[in-house]
Amino acid sequence: MDKQFNRRHFLSTGAALVGGLLLPPAFAGTRERLRIGVIGTGMRGQVLLQELLRRDDVEVAALCDIEPIMLGRALAQVEKAGKARPRTFGEDRDPHAYKRLLDAAKLDGVIIATPWEWHASMAIDAMQAKVPVGCEVVAGVTLQDHWDVLNTQLKTGTPYMLLENVCFRRDVMAALQMVRAGLFGELVHLQGGYQHDLRAVKFNSGDPAKPYGGGLEFGQKGWSEARWRTGHSVQRNGELYPSHGIGPCAMYTNINRGNRFTRINAFASKARGLHDYIVKKPGGANHPSAKAEFRLGDVVTTTLSCENGETILLQHDTSLPRPYSLGFRVQGTNGLWMDVNQSVHIEGVSKPHEWEDFQIYQDKYDHPLWRKYADRAEGAGHGGMDFFVIHAFIEALKARAPMPIDIYDAVSWSAITPLSEQSIAQGFQTLDFPDFTAGLWRTRKPIFALDGRY
Ligand SMILES: NC(=O)c1ccc[n+]([C@@H]2O[C@H](COP(=O)([O-])OP(=O)(O)OC[C@H]3O[C@@H](n4cnc5c(N)ncnc54)[C@H](O)[C@@H]3O)[C@@H](O)[C@H]2O)c1
Repeated sequence: MDKQFNRRHFLSTGAALVGGLLLPPAFAGTRERLRIGVIGTGMRGQVLLQELLRRDDVEVAALCDIEPIMLGRALAQVEKAGKARPRTFGEDRDPHAYKRLLDAAKLDGVIIATPWEWHASMAIDAMQAKVPVGCEVVAGVTLQDHWDVLNTQLKTGTPYMLLENVCFRRDVMAALQMVRAGLFGELVHLQGGYQHDLRAVKFNSGDPAKPYGGGLEFGQKGWSEARWRTGHSVQRNGELYPSHGIGPCAMYTNINRGNRFTRINAFASKARGLHDYIVKKPGGANHPSAKAEFRLGDVVTTTLSCENGETILLQHDTSLPRPYSLGFRVQGTNGLWMDVNQSVHIEGVSKPHEWEDFQIYQDKYDHPLWRKYADRAEGAGHGGMDFFVIHAFIEALKARAPMPIDIYDAVSWSAITPLSEQSIAQGFQTLDFPDFTAGLWRTRKPIFALDGRY
């Protein structure tokens, strides 16, 4: 697809300019209630479905999954919530059944929560069918996927949001308030990542009642993520899951809104963790999985430079024993916050060379959205942040407002994966980072989570 999409063509189609983003006439005017579909009703799709079912302004109109057990579980959720039965697609296991959902269900929006390899084509088909997209946190697999998703969004004008929930984590948003209040001074260096022991996600027994652990199967014999995610650890070596780490760091540094990534490189350690996990299990040394060769380095360290002079370091660490931590660090000329020890140091406020407890700052700088909606977020997935990510998508769609995490954010956060793979494959080379905004980053204004509505 043409990388240099001609914006004049788009203006000539009668598109409206809303908040710096072009919206075609089909997406003008506010609405009260939305018909939403979900493609992929697996473990994640069911969590997002629960958030949709809790809302009065959403009708869950259609569900699609090619695994009847997952589809059945989603239907049971709808029934339990006392909502009308949605149309269903995929019972015939046709991997393209989602296209019928897009054509037939008259949707105001669709959530995509399928394996990564499906995200780009499903999003492209949805945008071409004029169905706005909320896509789970990988926009595509190859770099070309990212250009294709971007160009389809620009050409169709159909809204697209990356459903990056960590951007809505309570401490992450308080830290955003602290950044905006200038507490850290001028930002210099940031860190984040995906540091999550996924060994029991990548292997299970294939029993649908037990998606995490309990076996060493993956691929067709595995269940849920073991069925597809582990294959990425076999075939690929890179920062495979960047957005939980880079999303907040990009918000803090206004990436694509006055700043941009300029260069990237990645280093991968040796791959030992997954094989070690397999052979240490009873009978593991003789299990067929013990013969698998995993390409994914256990710790992949990616560095990005930014136009405004900051550096950002990401770490992907999913194959070794470790407690969960995304490892955020936000550091400027006046001090820093680190999430692993929940500590802050602000020069002139904190005692010299000592940490202060972040809780004091959390209370003072709690984001207005959390102050407003903490009760509604109670009980939602991932400590409440899943409420906020769905809320943001739905409210922006209702208001026909720009997506809070938009297409430029989506592709530039997610393209870190293929670029990191390329860097590693070329001996950890430093590469230029493409400017997906074609220069618009200079004039775009920060909008994410600023006005308190969503
Ligand atoms: N944001 C988060 O915190 C978070 C957490 C977990 C997962 N995720 C993401 O959500 C997505 C799904 O992950 P999951 O844990 O639910 O995996 P899963 O394997 O449990 O669910 C994926 C579902 O997609 C279905 N599917 C596969 N191909 C399909 C097709 N062609 N058409 C329709 N359905 C199809 C599968 O049958 C399965 O039920 C992934 O992108 C994952 O990275 C995000």
